[in-house]
Parts: sequence; structure tokens; C-alpha cells
Amino acid sequence: MNRYGLIGFPLTHSFSQRYFSEKFAREGIADSQYDLFELPDISALPELLELPDLRGLNVTIPHKQAVLPFLDRVDTSAEKIGAVNVIKLDADGSRTGYNSDYYGFRQSLTDWLLTLERSPSDLQALVLGTGGASKAVTVALADMGIRFKFVSRTKREDTLTYNELPDVLADYSLIINGSPIGTYPRIDEAPRIPYQQLTHRHLLYDLVYNPAETQFMKLGREREAAVHNGLRMLELQAEKAWEIWQS
Ligand SMILES: NC(=O)c1ccc[n+]([C@@H]2O[C@H](COP(=O)([O-])OP(=O)(O)OC[C@H]3O[C@@H](n4cnc5c(N)ncnc54)[C@H](OP(=O)(O)O)[C@@H]3O)[C@@H](O)[C@H]2O)c1
Repeated sequence: MNRYGLIGFPLTHSFSQRYFSEKFAREGIADSQYDLFELPDISALPELLELPDLRGLNVTIPHKQAVLPFLDRVDTSAEKIGAVNVIKLDADGSRTGYNSDYYGFRQSLTDWLLTLERSPSDLQALVLGTGGASKAVTVALADMGIRFKFVSRTKREDTLTYNELPDVLADYSLIINGSPIGTYPRIDEAPRIPYQQLTHRHLLYDLVYNPAETQFMKLGREREAAVHNGLRMLELQAEKAWEIWQS
């Protein structure tokens, strides 16, 4: 039996467990199982890593940074992001960390820009929020050659605040919501950007995937901007995790 699983706390509902259980059933992968490992404290990780047949783990809040000291290697993009959400356990016992959010975001944005016939080199991006997801997004943007600015509720060096957006929105055609604003059940909320300034040249990418059309996307669509939700990124990051574990 090959064992996989998710560590985090609390683990209430998990996209990953459903995704992998359905994948194993659909593709007849009978020798594999995917479990939830609720770890209130990261100090329990070494014991879990000794579990026989454990091949890979997904990592979620609050452990994406805390797992780093327990790994032998971290791939380049995960190192730049400073967070890991996939761990591969090799037969020789070595442990490597990856960030599949990076791949999920990068691939989904690349595919979307191709369908829109928009070139990355013509875009500048605003990234709303400065948490872990936004960090993965900005490392991907940098690798794609897209210049970006963070937008935060707190003024910091090199970071815009929401109050500054009316003066700069025309210069940034790609706007990425990396904050949790608009997530179910608070579906009527939207990031505080000047929607009335949006045009058909703007692209709004929401990392939120529940609901499928967020208020951010709806307000953008009403101004004829192109909009995209976070579902494809979520699927692609799961596919990437599987690819990493099988490599
Ligand atoms: N589609 C996918 O595959 C995927 C993958 C990862 C994450 N996500 C989604 O991305 C979102 C962000 O994830 P995360 O882990 O980075 O979340 P997080 O750490 O909770 O929040 C990210 C940032 O959002 C801003 N923020 C938080 N609360 C806010 C509020 N009330 N008003 C305005 N800004 C607020 C904060 O930045 P400032 O303090 O600087 O304003 C915070 O650092 C979540 O909704 C998550 O579900 C999606």
C-alpha cells in the first residue's frame, strides 16, 4: 500500500482528500490511500514521517512554513516562496519540499493568457493581500517576467495600500485577489478596489474558488474585464503534487 495524506489543523473539509480518493477510484489505483492527519502541533511530524509506506504529504495551514526544518531539500520555487505544501518521501528516507500552488497558479495563468491572446510581457500586476498564497503568486509572476506590486491594508515599503489604487489602476491590467475576501459564506464582500475604473483591458484573477463567481469577478465582469476563479489552480496544484510523488 502507498500512503498519502494531508497535514494541517484544523482539518474540517478537504479538497485534496476528495480529489485523490476520487482519482484513485476513477483510475483504478487500488494500492494507494489518502488520509487526513490533523496535527495541532508540528512536533508530532517526525513520528508521522516514520509511518510505513508513506510516500507523500500535502501541507496546509498552519504548517506550510513550520515543516521546513524537517526537510532534507526544498525545490527552488518553494525556497523563494518560503513555504512548502507538498512533501515527497523517497525510499531512502529523504524528504523534499515543493510548492505546488506556484505551479498551479503559473500554469493556469499561462493557459488563460493564451486563450485571451494576451502576452505576459505586456502586463503589470497588482496582487491583493500579502499572505502565503500571494507570495507563491508573486514568485510565479516574477518567473514569467510580469512586474507586480503587492496591495496591502498596511503601508510598507514597496507595497501599495487600497487608498492609493485610484491613482495607479490604469497602469496595472492584471489584478489578482490573493486575499480571502469574498469566500463563502461572506460572498457579498469584495476587495476594496476602484471597480468603476476597470475596462475591457483588465484581467481579474481570483484565487478564491468558492463561490465559482465571486463578487470581485462579478463587479469586474460588469465593467467588461476578463475574469477567472481559483478552481483550475486548485486542480492543477493537486495534479502537480501527484506528479511530484510519482517522479
Ligand atoms: N485556488 C487555489 O489553488 C488557492 C491556493 C492557495 C490559496 N487560495 C486562496 O487564496 C486566499 C489567500 O490564502 P492565504 O493562505 O494567503 O490567506 P491569508 O494568509 O489568510 O490571507 C492572505 C492576505 O489577505 C489579506 N487579508 C486577510 N484578511 C483580509 C481582510 N479582511 N481584508 C482585506 N485583506 C485581507 C492579508 O494581507 P494584508 O494584511 O497585507 O492586507 C493577508 O495576508 C484564500 O482565500 C485561499 O483559499 C487558493
